[in-house]
Amino acid sequence: MPIVRSTVDPASETYQQNRRDQLAAVRRLQEQLELVRAGGGERAVRRHHQRGKLLVRERVELLLDRDAPFLELSALAAWGTQFTVGASVLTGVGAVCGIECVLIAHDPTVRGGTMNPYTLRKTLRALEIAKNNRLPVINLVESGGADLPTQSELFVQAGRTFHDLTELSAMGIPTIALVFGNSTAGGAYVPGMCDYAVLVDGQAKVFLGGPPLVKMATGEVSGDEELGGADMHSRVSGLSDYFAVDEADCVRIGRQIVADLNWRKRGPGPSKPVDAPLYDPDELLGIASADFRVPVDPREVLARVLDGSRFDEYKPLYGTSLVTGWASVHGFPVGVLANAQGVLFSEEAKKASEFILLANQTETPLIFLQNTTGYMVGKDYEQGGIIKDGAKMINAVTNSTVPHITINIGASFGAGNYGMSGRAYDPRFMFAWVNAKLAVMGAQQLAGVMSIVGRAGAESSGREFDEEADRRRTKEIEDQITTESDAFFITARLYDDGVIDPRDTRSVLGMALSAAHSQSIAGRRGFGVFRM
Ligand code: COA
Repeated sequence: MPIVRSTVDPASETYQQNRRDQLAAVRRLQEQLELVRAGGGERAVRRHHQRGKLLVRERVELLLDRDAPFLELSALAAWGTQFTVGASVLTGVGAVCGIECVLIAHDPTVRGGTMNPYTLRKTLRALEIAKNNRLPVINLVESGGADLPTQSELFVQAGRTFHDLTELSAMGIPTIALVFGNSTAGGAYVPGMCDYAVLVDGQAKVFLGGPPLVKMATGEVSGDEELGGADMHSRVSGLSDYFAVDEADCVRIGRQIVADLNWRKRGPGPSKPVDAPLYDPDELLGIASADFRVPVDPREVLARVLDGSRFDEYKPLYGTSLVTGWASVHGFPVGVLANAQGVLFSEEAKKASEFILLANQTETPLIFLQNTTGYMVGKDYEQGGIIKDGAKMINAVTNSTVPHITINIGASFGAGNYGMSGRAYDPRFMFAWVNAKLAVMGAQQLAGVMSIVGRAGAESSGREFDEEADRRRTKEIEDQITTESDAFFITARLYDDGVIDPRDTRSVLGMALSAAHSQSIAGRRGFGVFRM
C-alpha cells in the first residue's frame, strides 16, 4: 500500500509557533484534568478516606485489568458551569477480565455523588455508547440521587437512565451494579434495573427513602441497615445477588461476574499489520495551527496516526479539498475522510457520498477528521447545486451503518459538522483536539452577518443606523461566539466525548475502534453505489 511522505519542516518558524500554541493548549487541558481528578477537593477526599472508603478512581483502577488502558469519556463535562468540572461522575471504556466494558462511576466526594443536569447527560451518553457498541455496563454506585436544587432540569429526563439500563438488558447487553455506598431514590433503581447487583457490607444503603423521609411519610422509625443495608438486601429482599465484605471484595466479585458472562465480541478482530506510523506523533503539535483559518494538510496528520503511515488515497485528483482513502489503525481496516482546505464544494460532497457507500459495501469503519468551515456559498455554487450535493453527503452519512469515529482536529462549522458525521449523526465516538473550534460559523463571520442584517433592517425601516452601537454589539457577539466555539465549552455540554491531546489520536482511535468491534460491523444494504 502507498505510504504518506511528510514534507513538514520541524525547524520552520510556523512549526515552532504551532508547537508552542499547542503545548499551551495541552497544559490548559492538563490543569482542568487535575481539577477533575481532585473531585470534591481536599476536605471531601480526606473525609471519604477517613471513612475507610476508596475514591472513585481507586475503585476504577482496581476493577480494570492491570495496566490496561482506559478511554475516559466526557472528562470535562460541566466545565465552566456552576457545577464541579467532571460532573460528579466518571465514565469510560476499559477492559475487565479482557472484556471491554463501559464504566459509570459516581464520585461521592462531589456533593455526595448526586446527579446534576450535566451528570445526567454524561451518564446517558455512556449508556448510549454501551448500546451502540454492545458493551457491558458496570455501574460503581455511590450517589445521593438527584441534585435537589436543580431537580427541575433533570428529573423528567433522568427516568431515561432506568429505561436505558433495562433496554440494554433486553438487548442482551449485561448490566452490573457494584454498590459501594449510598444509593438513594433514583440511585436505588440502578441496582434495581441491573442484571447483577453486589452490595458492600456496612456501606451500601439502597432504599427509595432514607430514615428521615420514611419518618416524614409514614411515621415509621427505622435505621439505615434495616431499610437498605447489604445484609438485609442479601438475605431478606433479595435485591442483592452477592454480599461483599468490603470494597475490594466487591471489585473481586464484579470481575468474576464479568468473567462468567461468556462474552464474545461480534465484530472481526484486527486483520492488518499493527506497525507504528513512520513519523513521530509528537510532530502533530507542530502541524496543527491554533488558527483554524490556516489550512492543514491532513496527510501530515495521517502520516502520524495510521499503521505504517500507509494510506491508499481514493480519487486523489478529484474534489481535492477532501482527502479520502483506505488505511488501518491498530490493525483495524478503516476508510478515512479528512478535510484539506476547509471548504466543501460539490465535488467534495459527491466524492464523500461515493466513498461512504463504498465503505458500507465493504463493511469498513469510517474515520472523519473534521477541519471544515462548511459548504461553499455563492452564486456559482448555488447554481451548481451545492445544496443537492451537500444533501447527498448528509444522506450517505445518515444512512451509513458502519461505525463512524469523528475527530475535530481544527474546525467544525456549519453543515460541514453534519456532513462530516458530527454529534447529531451518531458517530460511535467523537473527540476534539484541544485547539478545535465548533459553531454554526466562525465568530467574526457570525458577528459580521448580524451587523449586515441590522444595517439592512435600519435601512428598510428608514431608521438611522447607529455605527457606534453596531461596533459595540459586533464586538460583544464576536466575543460570545469565540467563547462558545471553544473546545472546552463544547465538551462541557457533551457535544463530543472528550478533548484530547493531538499526540493521543492514534491510541484513542485504536481504543474506540476496538470498542466498536464489540458490535458486529454491518454496512448499509439495499442500494448499490451511485456513481456521483
Ligand atoms: N442534592 C444536592 N446536594 C446534596 C444532596 C442532594 N440530593 N445530597 C447531599 N448534597 C450535598 C450536601 O449539601 C453537601 O454539600 P456541602 O459539601 O456543600 O456541604 C455535600 O453534598 C455532601 O453531603 P453530606 O451529607 O455532608 O455528605 P455525606 O457523605 O455524609 O452524605 C448523602 C451524602 C448523599 C448520603 C447525604 O447527603 C444524603 O442523604 N443526601 C440526601 C439524599 C436524598 O435524599 N436524595 C434524594 C434524591 S431524589
